[in-house]
Amino acid sequence: MTLKVIGILASPRVNGNSDLLLRQALAGAESAGAQVEYLRLIDFEIAPCIECNCCYKTGRCVVEDDYHIVSAKMLDADRLIFATPIFFMAVSAQAKAFIDRCQCLWAHKYVLKNTAAGRDRRAMVIAVGGSKSKKMFECVRLTMKYFFDAIDMNYAANLFVNKIENIGQIKEHPSAMKEAFALGQKLADPDSEPPEKPLDIELT
Ligand SMILES: Cc1cc2nc3c(=O)[nH]c(=O)nc-3n(C[C@H](O)[C@H](O)[C@H](O)COP(=O)(O)O)c2cc1C
Repeated sequence: MTLKVIGILASPRVNGNSDLLLRQALAGAESAGAQVEYLRLIDFEIAPCIECNCCYKTGRCVVEDDYHIVSAKMLDADRLIFATPIFFMAVSAQAKAFIDRCQCLWAHKYVLKNTAAGRDRRAMVIAVGGSKSKKMFECVRLTMKYFFDAIDMNYAANLFVNKIENIGQIKEHPSAMKEAFALGQKLADPDSEPPEKPLDIELT
């Protein structure tokens, strides 16, 4: 079976650091035989959640915009690679808007008690920050734990890189690009078992 892998970029910066890592990870997934798709949230109109809670009755978001296009692709995929820069110790605004809109998927699962039981779906997150602090990754780790759970995906891995600020600077990092490729390859390996806990890669 060919696995479908979707890569979602949440950076506003095309050819930025998280973008380059994401595309490396997707190249790794493709080398493992997966069918890959790459999306950038900046190419879509996705409004923030309005907390109307209509989704608690239907499991569907009533705000009609491109959220539905991206989420349909994400739900169809077997694997997700989500890449974000660190903005003010957290994920980007584009990432947060999309994640918050997935509240309808949370409602679908936890309010309406529907799950996509039986499907082996897995996700990994890539995050890049400019400062030497690593505290910012704790925020991403927690957000992604609950996001991946809401979309019924097993949190398989994270790749966090700090001290990377300028556009494209990640290419000068001694191992990050190779690590991204290897993680994408592993994520898309059809013979691998689901991990018991996320593979945690933090690079400086
Ligand atoms: C609005 C904004 C907020 C930022 N906040 C942080 C931060 O809190 N911590 C940090 O380490 N870097 C911060 N940065 C730096 C970016 O994380 C860094 O430049 C990163 O490489 C951007 O990734 P990208 O090229 O994938 O967009 C910030 C940058 C911007 C534009």
